[in-house]
Amino acid sequence: MEFQDVVRRRKMIRNYAETPVDPAIVERAIRNATRAPSAGFSQGWAFLVLDTPDDVRRWWATTTDPDQLARPDDWLAGMMRAPVVIVPCSSKRAYLQRYAERDKGWTDEDEARWPMPFWHMDAAMASLLILQTAVDEGLGSCFFGIPPDRDAGVRAEFGIPDTFDPVGVITLGHRVPDPGNAGSPARRGRKPLDDVLHRGGWGGNG
Ligand SMILES: Cc1cc2nc3c(=O)[nH]c(=O)nc-3n(C[C@H](O)[C@H](O)[C@H](O)COP(=O)(O)O)c2cc1C
Repeated sequence: MEFQDVVRRRKMIRNYAETPVDPAIVERAIRNATRAPSAGFSQGWAFLVLDTPDDVRRWWATTTDPDQLARPDDWLAGMMRAPVVIVPCSSKRAYLQRYAERDKGWTDEDEARWPMPFWHMDAAMASLLILQTAVDEGLGSCFFGIPPDRDAGVRAEFGIPDTFDPVGVITLGHRVPDPGNAGSPARRGRKPLDDVLHRGGWGGNG
């Protein structure tokens, strides 16, 4: 698929068929994720892949109230059918340690040196490559957040070490038409380029 088509067609999909996803596609998605840029080539990311019905069930059981699980709304019902769940994680420690190496030299590992939490940024960039790979494969995917009160449970259930933080979660699967669940873009428009593009500075156009 042409790159521009991948960009244009990508949107979050919240309704899936139960049809399994070819494991080779999942592997390609993760391999592509590891082509993302990373500060200092730290690559402080990791990807938890849940691609068996049992593991996917464990995901939803860990992140959802039993009441909701028993009577899922449209969002949850559509998402729970996705046969693959991917949890991108970032490692702050990997960045602090990488930048303490000789070619970087921030040996104090002081977090104040970091203009931005690059560990999360890089995991987000890697996540986008997973979403784009899904489009290229004719599949659907959706990145969404893990409720803060579920973080500890997720770590415990899936053995995520303290040195990694889940930055969100991605469902992946064969998409099913879902006019009723298009998310926020159904309620608000894309900002015009003039609203977001500031050539040479902000002056004049707000
Ligand atoms: C960091 C992040 C968190 C998001 N969290 C959710 C979420 O919790 N639930 C959901 O349905 N969609 C979530 N989304 C999807 C956004 O709603 C979606 O990307 C946005 O409305 C634009 O639509 P599009 O991606 O289909 O173009 C999230 C997206 C991002 C990037």
